[in-house]
Amino acid sequence: MTKKLYELGEMPPLGDVPEKMYANLIRPERFGEPRKAFETEVIDTPRPGRGQVLVWVMAAGINYNNVWAGLGHPLDVIAARQKQGEPENFHIGGSEGSGVVFAVGEGVSGVSVGDEVVLSGGLWNEQGEDIRLGVDPTLSSSLRAWGYEANYGSFAQFALVSDYQCHPKPKNLTWESAAAFILTGATAYRQLFGWAPNTVKPGDPVLIWGGAGGLGSMAIQLVRNAGGIPIAVVSSEERAEYCRSLGAAGVIDRTRFSHWGRMPDLSDTAAYAAWMSEVRAFGRSFWEALGERRAPRIVFEHSGQDTIPTSMYLCDIGGMVTICGGTSGYAADVDLRFLWMRQKRLQGSHGFNPAQCRAVINLVASGLLDPCVSRVFDFDGIGEAHQLLHDNQQQPGNMAALVNAPRTGLTTLA
Ligand SMILES: NC(=O)c1ccc[n+]([C@@H]2O[C@H](COP(=O)([O-])OP(=O)(O)OC[C@H]3O[C@@H](n4cnc5c(N)ncnc54)[C@H](OP(=O)(O)O)[C@@H]3O)[C@@H](O)[C@H]2O)c1
Repeated sequence: MTKKLYELGEMPPLGDVPEKMYANLIRPERFGEPRKAFETEVIDTPRPGRGQVLVWVMAAGINYNNVWAGLGHPLDVIAARQKQGEPENFHIGGSEGSGVVFAVGEGVSGVSVGDEVVLSGGLWNEQGEDIRLGVDPTLSSSLRAWGYEANYGSFAQFALVSDYQCHPKPKNLTWESAAAFILTGATAYRQLFGWAPNTVKPGDPVLIWGGAGGLGSMAIQLVRNAGGIPIAVVSSEERAEYCRSLGAAGVIDRTRFSHWGRMPDLSDTAAYAAWMSEVRAFGRSFWEALGERRAPRIVFEHSGQDTIPTSMYLCDIGGMVTICGGTSGYAADVDLRFLWMRQKRLQGSHGFNPAQCRAVINLVASGLLDPCVSRVFDFDGIGEAHQLLHDNQQQPGNMAALVNAPRTGLTTLA
């Protein structure tokens, strides 16, 4: 083990793990807005244990989950891990990335030192009884999000992952593009194709909230590829234009409506009528954007509290609202009459399984899915990138940060 502290981009000899490394990390005393929560520090480099891989990180993807981690809310991820017996009083975020396999622990299979890889964020216990009995790992009781619920994510010179989190890096991609599409791309893929029989079929209209966001930009393309008709919701004309450029057949500007959030109580007839009138107006906007009077077969949800009542109303008979997040809040109202009378489905969806992950990597590698990386930050800009997400001021698509990659545009270490 070498005592030298290597600067970002200055690669130690493969396998010779340095004692210390740089990490852009969160500490409990800095919990709050992302700009102040993240700071670059020097810490001990983790060692790969059994089945684990230490990756020299070239670039990292920026995702909303580390906005939550920085806020320390709704979950204090550091305290939660300490409760489980882990000693670290810091959190290294980053739930996806690209890099080079630097060192491997005992019993690692499928990857070797020197491999160029992309990293997925699902972490589970392969020896767990449920997984041994054949459950989808995403439904395992051991599932955790690496770089959120688990430490040593991609916002550091070295990341610690399990071997099954490493996938061959598509050779045509830059480090920064390779780092930033799996989490949103594969999550969107599971939402749209993982819940049979409610999967996107040719000709299906699909309503996509936050069409210009990380998930939304992936969802628009995935729906298009399957022959569906993506209708995106946005909050600005710039974002509308972006969605059209990705293949959205129509766009709705949500700022024209005001009925967001919790539903009024049904006993307040005036308030309920006003609310219903806005929901119906939004529904008419959907028809206009689609060019015909049909309801969405699938509603792609992640905005949560503000939008769920509208999603449940708009969704087609026998259709599905699939949700993976609650950006605007978690306490959302469902008018159960719409749910049962119209036999709709409200389906939670979280992460993605290995097959769904590989499907998305293959789509990107073959040029059928654009990773949509719109902005790349330097290592010290990781906090600022999360601040933009927090404030909904980000540019459309996905965002990445360079870690050890010296500049954008590079595709290989060689
Ligand atoms: N469970 C999982 O596996 C998983 C995976 C990925 C993401 N997520 C969650 O999904 C959410 C979105 O992630 P993302 O990466 O797509 O984030 P993002 O890039 O910030 O995009 C989210 C989009 O949502 C829209 N939005 C924000 N507030 C809204 C509101 N009150 N009502 C309607 N739309 C609103 C914004 O678009 P406009 O302002 O233009 O409408 C924004 O572009 C986050 O909460 C994240 O934690 C969960």
